[in-house]
Amino acid sequence: MANVKFKVQAGGTVKGRVRVPGDKSISHRSIMLGALAEGTTTVTGFLEGADALATLQAFRDMGVQIEGPENGNVTIHGVGLRGLKKPEKPMDMGNSGTSTRLLAGILAGQDFDCTLIGDASLSKRPMKRVTDPLALMGAQLETSEGGTLPMVIKGQGQPLKAIDYTLPMASAQVKSCVLLAGLFADGQTCATEPAPTRDHTERMLNGFGYQVNSEKLDNQRMKACLQGGGKLTACHIDVPSDISSAAFFMAAAAIAKDSDLVIEHVGMNPTRIGVIEILKLMGADITLENPHEVGGEPVADVHIRYAPLKGIEIPEELVALAIDEFPVLFVVAASAEGKTVLTGAEELRVKESDRIQVMADALQAVGIDAQPTSDGMIINGGKQSKQNAVIESHHDHRISMAMTVAGLFASDEIVIDDCANVNTSFPIFVDLMNQVGLQVEVISE
Ligand code: S3P
Repeated sequence: MANVKFKVQAGGTVKGRVRVPGDKSISHRSIMLGALAEGTTTVTGFLEGADALATLQAFRDMGVQIEGPENGNVTIHGVGLRGLKKPEKPMDMGNSGTSTRLLAGILAGQDFDCTLIGDASLSKRPMKRVTDPLALMGAQLETSEGGTLPMVIKGQGQPLKAIDYTLPMASAQVKSCVLLAGLFADGQTCATEPAPTRDHTERMLNGFGYQVNSEKLDNQRMKACLQGGGKLTACHIDVPSDISSAAFFMAAAAIAKDSDLVIEHVGMNPTRIGVIEILKLMGADITLENPHEVGGEPVADVHIRYAPLKGIEIPEELVALAIDEFPVLFVVAASAEGKTVLTGAEELRVKESDRIQVMADALQAVGIDAQPTSDGMIINGGKQSKQNAVIESHHDHRISMAMTVAGLFASDEIVIDDCANVNTSFPIFVDLMNQVGLQVEVISE
């Protein structure tokens, strides 16, 4: 495959109105729940990125008839909880942790054997976090010795055991895996998380008429429970724009002088808006306009204008609520005046890349004082000097996109190597960035 590089010109101002593609997390779940439902589910705003397409292909491999995607429209002919068929070959999850970990929960409840594989980055990521609870439910799973892909899931032909599971880390993927396996269990399955994480699985199950009860145990811990053996009823899903993709545009307008940008129809689920809270704490001028609801998810237009930013200590309770946005938040911190400190974010080390190390290296390459710590980063912003920086994305779409935004404060052009990965979550990223005022050239070698 060709090596795709981004060459970003230094400086610029960000202006206009944009609409970014559909939410990745919600797109994955629309296919999964649509396939397990009875009846025909229609989806609009589906993200046609490689990750969500890997989920779609997996369900086709398991005999589900799916039409589209075409302009974000997908129609899924649900087969019910018991209707999936054994796939003929190992199912390729590409770069997608969400596909892998959520599917593991669904596959643990089937009566056939199958195998999940993935690309170089995904094949390094930890899977023990899902195989542990699934084993407690009586599922039979095998991974490599290091607890990574390939994962072999043996069909049980009998219900799983319901469990009351406490997650060791704040992870929506693990929570969702346990709840989805719980659909195939003999009683009530619960997942308790140490801090609130995105709740799209719970919301969408409720939307498909499958009751999930969520309760707050204290200031941080949340518990979600469901009874196994029910049924999902097909529905319509309108996927809002992905706040994680919008974050690159919010950051760009926040750091580039004279910027004034509106990002339309952005998902505002309270478990996802940490990026807005953090930007506001740094002094960003953000207003939410036209708030309304689509299919159980709040949305709004995000209006952001340039304002001088200052470094902050990022409150730890916001970490899980902004977990995918830290690469670009580090870029914002690098352009802000003063010191920004992030702690409590060790999960960043096991994303598509080690986002603490990789972003510290990338920011140092453009002359920023960025010091990685075991669970976060310390960035002294406002001063940078190095020229002709070449950045490695380390197979991570969010590194490619975050460092593109860094071009706005760089003193010279930045070249980012290995950017084809942007297709996993945001295929039209460069077009939209150029539309609002950046100058990004795509070079294919
Ligand atoms: C996701 C959960 C998060 C996030 C990922 C998508 C999801 O991962 O980083 O991009 O859709 O459930 P963790 O569950 O590992 O925190």
